[in-house]
Amino acid sequence: MSAKFDFSGKNIFVVGGTSGINLGIACGFARWGANVAVASRKQEKVDNAVSKLKGLGANAFGVAFDVRHAEDVESGFAKVADFFNGTIDVLISGAAGNFPSRVNDMSVNAIRSVLEIDLLGTFHVMKASHAYLKKPGASVVNISAPQAFLPMSHQAHVCSAKAGVDMITRTLSMEWGSDGIRINSIVPGPIAGTEGMDRLAPTPALQEAVTRSVPLGRQGSVDDIANAAAMLSSEQSSYISGVILPVDGGWSQSGATDVMTKLSNMLDNMKAK
Ligand code: HXC
Ligand code: NAP
Repeated sequence: MSAKFDFSGKNIFVVGGTSGINLGIACGFARWGANVAVASRKQEKVDNAVSKLKGLGANAFGVAFDVRHAEDVESGFAKVADFFNGTIDVLISGAAGNFPSRVNDMSVNAIRSVLEIDLLGTFHVMKASHAYLKKPGASVVNISAPQAFLPMSHQAHVCSAKAGVDMITRTLSMEWGSDGIRINSIVPGPIAGTEGMDRLAPTPALQEAVTRSVPLGRQGSVDDIANAAAMLSSEQSSYISGVILPVDGGWSQSGATDVMTKLSNMLDNMKAK
């Protein structure tokens, strides 16, 4: 990925930034000159991500916390703010959990797990971040999913949680606008080689079906999402706030709901055999 953005000297914190799409975003900002912090539950993943970011030349820092626990999120933000000398310029919030399952097959705890990570976790991250976000000038990007506005079989937990995430984005664009903080959501489409896609399409045939359903004819890359996060967080986007931006090759305009329903039914059949 060639350097198209300049975030030299800016402080960026990626929550859930230790694998997949979010790590790709962290690496993008590292290449564009930012100081980068990442957080997730597992210390080993945090350490590996920090090593990778340092390998890209970034001034990098990591902290382990679970977004479900508000007090741990608060103390994690305090550590990151110390590392950054007090100010976060760009916050990416993308911690999430998912597994395909019909509502009837989910325990109360299964539903609660995803709601607590995706939705309550986003609340915790937003509340803990506000004191440290640069005012005016900060950019916040919440990582949503097409499930937020498209019903998909076997995804009721994620659909309802991510719909809530996008409503947090839209509401905070009003509440935080007077601080000069912009907040937007990115809605990735199917992104190749990620945990999310591997869980929903765990065989080559299922992956191929997804690829065929994307109008642009390919799955996205983590760099596609990193570029969108940088675009939204750059000064050139200084009047963009409260936007829910699909970055999905047109997938959410056609194909997404149908193929996900077919996929889920095929997964059920595979399990039944
Ligand atoms: C039904 C399931 C299940 C499954 C877990 N559970 N997997 N129920 N079908 N396949 C149930 C468990 O039995 C348990 O309920 C409850 O969920 C919590 O599971 P735990 O493993 O104890 O929880 P925890 O360790 O907290 O893990 C949370 C998790 C896990 C969400 C279940 O999968 C996780 O950590 N995921 C993080 C990584 C991830 O999912 N990445 C993909 C994000 S992609 P009981 O009743 O037994 O206690 C994404 C959108 C992609 O978000 C969109 C693509 C288009
Ligand atoms: P991933 O690699 O599993 O990334 C999830 C990240 O969140 C990991 O760093 C994980 O690390 C962390 N995390 C999970 N639960 C957490 C918790 N309770 N507290 C703190 N951190 C937690 O998945 P991905 O597929 O790249 O997805 C990344 C984001 O993109 C998610 O928000 C997802 O909803 C969204 N998305 C993905 C796709 C796709 O095609 N993959 C499509 C649309 C939207 P730990 O395990 O160490 O906690």
